Amino acid sequence: MRAIRGATTILSDTPDQIRVSVKELLNGIVEKNKLKTGQIICIMFSSTEDIKSYYPAKAAREAGFTACALYSSLEPEIDGALKMCIRVMILADGDDAAEHVYLNGAKNLRKDITSILNIAVDGPAGSGKSTVCKEIAQRLGILYLDTGAMYRAIAYKCVKDNRDYGDKDVVKHIINRLNLKVEYRDGKQITLLDGEDVSELIRTPQVSLLASYVSSYSFVRTKMVALQREIAEKTSCILDGRDIGTNVLPKCRFKFYLTASPEVRANRRFDEDRAKGGKQTYEQVLQDINERDFQDKNKAVGALKKADDAIEIDTSDMSITEVVEAIIGKVQERI
Ligand code: DC
Repeated sequence: MRAIRGATTILSDTPDQIRVSVKELLNGIVEKNKLKTGQIICIMFSSTEDIKSYYPAKAAREAGFTACALYSSLEPEIDGALKMCIRVMILADGDDAAEHVYLNGAKNLRKDITSILNIAVDGPAGSGKSTVCKEIAQRLGILYLDTGAMYRAIAYKCVKDNRDYGDKDVVKHIINRLNLKVEYRDGKQITLLDGEDVSELIRTPQVSLLASYVSSYSFVRTKMVALQREIAEKTSCILDGRDIGTNVLPKCRFKFYLTASPEVRANRRFDEDRAKGGKQTYEQVLQDINERDFQDKNKAVGALKKADDAIEIDTSDMSITEVVEAIIGKVQERI
């Protein structure tokens, strides 16, 4: 007898989504294990508590799995667990080695038997990249790599040590001795500079503008890009930045380019600043956005640019959830 495992994730808790995903998962297992109907003894499902609209076992019966025992159960709610996930175990006759099948976001549950999933998201400041990427990372159970934080950390170092960021040699000196690490705690990215957690300190308007400036030095980019590639090679992650699709991961299968008008982006940043107790006027924020756009788009290396094969999404009139769904939908279509 064989015990075959599998899992998948769904986008939204609807009977239709559950039916389609269960069918896809079971057919995938049958195909990969060359199972004949009479060989299947039982199919047992468990699903996360955010799936309430339909029994996976019922979906299995509707998909034609009627000649075996079917069973659905609910998983305990575990902090940080992959969301919207349906897991399955099939007991089947036969002595061949079991081929387990993990689909969609569940691929990341078994890194040993599935490939690394990288998603590249580029776009200008305020286009919604970080909010959207954080949400997608959580939904798919992958990491979120905020590459802007790396450039910000260098800019912060210049400010903190009162160094002249306009002097190439000074920045080179900093880069050659840079002690920058990106770690994850409870799925959240922590940026460590010389061992200090600078994740919040790098979010000031001054550091934002300076980060855009120092990121134009080619030696800065070479070092940061190498670090980003190293992380992406080992880990399933969604990365956001300016040159992810064009330069960091040019062969990435999933590339997105988010845009929004400067006014909409300035409004978003203005609201964020106010929520943190900031005092910037809308006009100042808009001016910063325009200045950063100009710097980001006109760099000699690593300039902000849509990759030819990236899917462009104008987020001006979209909610965060709509953008998240659009990206996850496209990724799952092609996985
Ligand atoms: O995404 P962000 O606003 O945190 O990025 C800060 C600056 O860093 C941004 O103005 C441009 C630069 N950057 C870059 O050049 N390449 C990246 N991949 C990410 C950010």
